[in-house]
Amino acid sequence: MAEDLTIHNGSKQEQYELLIPQIEGLLSGETNLIANLANISAALKEQFNWWWVGFYWVENDELVLGPFQGPVACTRIKKGRGVCGGAWEKGETLIVKDVEQFPGHIACSSASKSEIVVPVYHEGKIVGVLDVDSEYLDHFDEVDKVYLEKIVGLLPSL
Ligand code: SME
Repeated sequence: MAEDLTIHNGSKQEQYELLIPQIEGLLSGETNLIANLANISAALKEQFNWWWVGFYWVENDELVLGPFQGPVACTRIKKGRGVCGGAWEKGETLIVKDVEQFPGHIACSSASKSEIVVPVYHEGKIVGVLDVDSEYLDHFDEVDKVYLEKIVGLLPSL
């Protein structure tokens, strides 16, 4: 397993393209879910230096905080609540350009201005979400959606 991440400059697309094989390397041969979620969060944080990046995992009718990088965060989110609970309920990636305009947004940190939440599917069901927060408005777009969906799809074990 690669233990160092090589950070690349260039367009966002190029950065993702060079990060993905490194994430594949980090995941390869490792079946422990927590270890893999932790390393995906760390790799994304190292490459993009987002404000907050990490996972919430489904437990009964709630999402529970999982491995992440960034400031402390709320631990439990009900289905349908906030951006994370909304992405879970709708079953699709949500991009929020301005969290203050999103009804029900859960402000774990007042510094967070925009957000993307990507559901993680296993056997047709959502088992968790990847949440990324930025301190800048309108920070996420379709490029992030495409690549982050690809990245959560790399998880070998769920
Ligand atoms: N803002 C999220 C809650 C999670 S934190 O941002 C880490 C939401 O509205 O779902």
